[in-house]
Amino acid sequence: MAMDYIVDKLGGRIAFGGDYNPEQWPEEVWKHDVALMKEAGVNLVSVGIFSWALLEPEEGRYEFGWLDRVLELLHANGISVDLANASASPPPWFSRKYPDSLPVDADGVRQSYGSRQAFAACSPDYRRAAAALTTAIVQRYAEHPAVVMWHVHNEYGCHNQPDFGPHAERGFQKWLQDRYGSLDALNKAWGTAFWSQHYYDWAEILPPRRSGTWVNPTQQLDFARFSSDALLECFKAEADVIRAHSEHPVTTNFMGFNMGLNAPVDYWRWSGHMDVVSNDHYLIAADERNFQELAMTADLTRGWAQGKPWLLMEHSTSAVNWQPRNVAKVPGEMLRNSLQHVARGSDGALFFQWRASRAGAEKYHSGLVPHAGRDSKVWREVVQLGRVLESISEVAGSTVQAEACIIHDTDARWGTELDSHPSEDARNVPETRRWHDALYRAGITTDIRQSTDDLSGYKLVIAPMLYLVTDEGAAKLHKYVEAGGTLVITYFSGIVDENDHIRMDPVNGGGYPGAFSELLGVSMEEFFPLRSGDTVGLSQFGSGTLWSELGKATDAEVLATFDGGAGRSGVGGSPAVTRRAGASGRGAAYYVATSLGRTGLAELVQLLCSDAGVEPVLGVAPPEDVEIVRRSNGTKDWTFVINHSAHDVDVPLDGVELLSGAPTGGTLILTAGGVAVVATPA
Ligand code: GAL
Repeated sequence: MAMDYIVDKLGGRIAFGGDYNPEQWPEEVWKHDVALMKEAGVNLVSVGIFSWALLEPEEGRYEFGWLDRVLELLHANGISVDLANASASPPPWFSRKYPDSLPVDADGVRQSYGSRQAFAACSPDYRRAAAALTTAIVQRYAEHPAVVMWHVHNEYGCHNQPDFGPHAERGFQKWLQDRYGSLDALNKAWGTAFWSQHYYDWAEILPPRRSGTWVNPTQQLDFARFSSDALLECFKAEADVIRAHSEHPVTTNFMGFNMGLNAPVDYWRWSGHMDVVSNDHYLIAADERNFQELAMTADLTRGWAQGKPWLLMEHSTSAVNWQPRNVAKVPGEMLRNSLQHVARGSDGALFFQWRASRAGAEKYHSGLVPHAGRDSKVWREVVQLGRVLESISEVAGSTVQAEACIIHDTDARWGTELDSHPSEDARNVPETRRWHDALYRAGITTDIRQSTDDLSGYKLVIAPMLYLVTDEGAAKLHKYVEAGGTLVITYFSGIVDENDHIRMDPVNGGGYPGAFSELLGVSMEEFFPLRSGDTVGLSQFGSGTLWSELGKATDAEVLATFDGGAGRSGVGGSPAVTRRAGASGRGAAYYVATSLGRTGLAELVQLLCSDAGVEPVLGVAPPEDVEIVRRSNGTKDWTFVINHSAHDVDVPLDGVELLSGAPTGGTLILTAGGVAVVATPA
């Protein structure tokens, strides 16, 4: 059961709608809401996400009257509901009654209620109350004809993560006992011989609260893993209650790349527990290539969904309220964003939120119905989007095929966000983005998966800054090359094992990157991170930033070396880009020992693609800032062409353009900022 169940319930249509919070409005507004929803073609709304306080005014006493009326009204108007179990924000009465359910920060300061998500994941009172509320809701609405999906909680980890309080302390100790079995094993894994940290009693072990200086890195990493698991336990408990009463799919909305070490939720571990993988994405207004960041997030979400269709649960019609400068979307931008998500596998385009609020912290956040009402740019574009989605309904259920794949392991990412490292600039997500952007510019569709996934279907696999790699992940990548695949490993990859210990032989040492040195045929001996803003010249591929290394190729062809520089570089002559041919005569293992500039990276990506036989969707690179992605169901293909540029473009593409219903006649002509979806036989 997955996204196809929802599409089926929606009469074969792509999901369109968003968070509907009718409790924020007088009841007489509701009938206007549904009339507007019908005008726009809205078919799915998420209801009740932040309604706990109104649904349960005091412990065990529920007031469902208003929700009954809302669901009836929606059903009578043919609008389906993704019903929340409302556990995301405990009400003030709850926090006051159970003050130790509130989360505690790393300084030991207990947070207050008054915003949202004010609970500690391991609080037994929170868990009990959330389960009771879930039971009451699901028992009442499991058979309600409007309901087609369950929305558990909301963005787990947003705003209350991680919790360092006493519940987390006990939970962490228990989690560690399960993981390590003995204190001896924990002491080894954490390297507690260093700085006199040896533990003699489980009760001595704390969450990584503020200390004089760097807290044990393995402790930090394990705490992130534990914190993610603690929230996952909350999800599973609530989902179990729902599944015991209902057949509808269960989801919780993920937050794309917003799952760093400071708010750790490992979606690779979570996604298998979802019936539908759903994600929220918001553009960062200050980011000039935010459309590419959107594409990368959608590709990651498709990875969590194992390539199957997923659901865009939230994005915005225009500005948000939480950035320093909340720039509104220009005409056409919301349509482009929506179609980017659909092109990359979402079978829906949902938004936060239906009606822009009048009160509260998010009143300056855009909605489908803006403060200005119907006579507005936003509303006209919402209606237009509804029509567009209707016209491409046949795309639902189809999938995206990619020949290239980027590896993005959560532990590797968290590992690079630890303190006390060679360079604070060496972070996984920015390096991943540089590679994704280079592939995006070349028109290459890219999946994002983790190292332990089955990679055999890919011609090209790129592992940007796979700092921490498990034995299993390293073995998979070795096998991938042995089987003829083309693999790229970048600097600061394969450096540590799952405990964040340097991969090396304790007696004889051994060159970096320990996990891949043999596979790559290189042996690097010393990191030379660059000063901020510095570059290092290369004999090929332009120049590098952030990082350089001293070392040698032991069994690889050197494609580029580092320049000596003006006496500032200690790495002159060391290999910067290498290639070791696969043992079978097919495939290769490349090493890139620096962060390449845009032009050099583009040049290298061209070389990699021709070496691996990877091609852009239309065989040639698209015009600049034109995104071309294809979905297919095996018999029919749909090519999405999204023009982010300020120029009209011609694209050689023969088929029927679904938005206009007109054949392209061999060449698609797309205006600046325009979108098209062209159907062709597969
Ligand atoms: C999301 C959240 C929504 C809303 C939105 C605003 O993180 O799930 O409830 O706050 O952000 O952009």
